[in-house]
Amino acid sequence: MLKEIKNRRSIRSYKNEDISIDIIKDILKSGLMAPSAKNNQPWRFLIVSQDVKTKISSKMIELVGPNKTAEVIANVPYLILVYNSSDEYFNHLSIGAAIENILLECENRNLGSLWIGYIKKIEDYVKELVGVEMELVSAIAIGVKDENPLPRTRLNLEDILISSNR
Ligand SMILES: Cc1cc2nc3c(=O)[nH]c(=O)nc-3n(C[C@H](O)[C@H](O)[C@H](O)COP(=O)(O)O)c2cc1C
Repeated sequence: MLKEIKNRRSIRSYKNEDISIDIIKDILKSGLMAPSAKNNQPWRFLIVSQDVKTKISSKMIELVGPNKTAEVIANVPYLILVYNSSDEYFNHLSIGAAIENILLECENRNLGSLWIGYIKKIEDYVKELVGVEMELVSAIAIGVKDENPLPRTRLNLEDILISSNR
């Protein structure tokens, strides 16, 4: 197994250390290498400013109360909004593959990342805020790790291997 697959963790605490935008763009290139249905590459990415991060975080807290995800969004150096550019059937699967590539590339560079699905809760607010009409699928936080969490538990192989009586 790739060491990045084994070692990657969701990181929810980041150092206040800058990362060059060129590194972030290189990391996003790993997303565009992902497989996609009919090679339609439906993913689109928006790197947002600190002002937008602060507003998204505040809105999340306003709607659901203080939470770790909102804290990450306010403090992480980079927040990338992930969009779906068309309404073809398999797009969400393809976009998930692109996001996973990005998380693994972050781990390859010893950077922390967090897949943020919770942003869907404030999708309409984000649309208004950034003025992008495409469907918001998720967000990705990227920064220098300030924690080293233990792996979360996983099911065993026996739990996920099912059998068929045919
Ligand atoms: C589709 C998806 C959405 C997620 N959304 C959030 C989120 O909004 N906030 C958060 O803290 N973690 C989020 N996570 C991270 C999961 O909680 C995490 O992957 C899981 O607990 C396993 O931990 P690990 O990533 O460290 O292995 C999300 C993960 C996925 C795949």
